[in-house]
Amino acid sequence: MDWPHSVSPEELLQKARVAQQAAYVPYSAFPVGAALLTEGGDVITGCNVENASYGLALCAERNALTTAVARGEKKFAAIAVVGRSGEACLPCGACRQFMAEFNPALLVVLEEGPEPLIYHLDLDLLPHPFALRSEELTND
Ligand code: THU
Repeated sequence: MDWPHSVSPEELLQKARVAQQAAYVPYSAFPVGAALLTEGGDVITGCNVENASYGLALCAERNALTTAVARGEKKFAAIAVVGRSGEACLPCGACRQFMAEFNPALLVVLEEGPEPLIYHLDLDLLPHPFALRSEELTND
């Protein structure tokens, strides 16, 4: 795939791996790391954070997205997500919708075998996101 960004998919996966080490997962023992690439070339990471009230678990992707927005970033080019080593960790439906809010065409980088696996959020993972109005979700 044509990758027009200064941070490579491999580097993004590596940063997600580092973020994964901070995961708080006493209930699932399933650590996830995410690394979000801004249009400006910055990388903001997140990990999953669980709770004794299981349903409150915060996914790594939404942790990265909310951290980025709190820092004033809203334009994203790509996100890398890692779970079990070597297995694609596909984002859950809630995280796909959360990503689409900011960029319906976000690139999603996963680890599967030796080469990064790159999906288009709009084409591959969430072709029809919820929107209050059909024209509402844009990357402008
Ligand atoms: N999890 C994520 O962090 N991202 C996802 O897209 C799916 C699941 C987390 C939530 C929970 O802490 C653990 O993985 C097991 O479901």
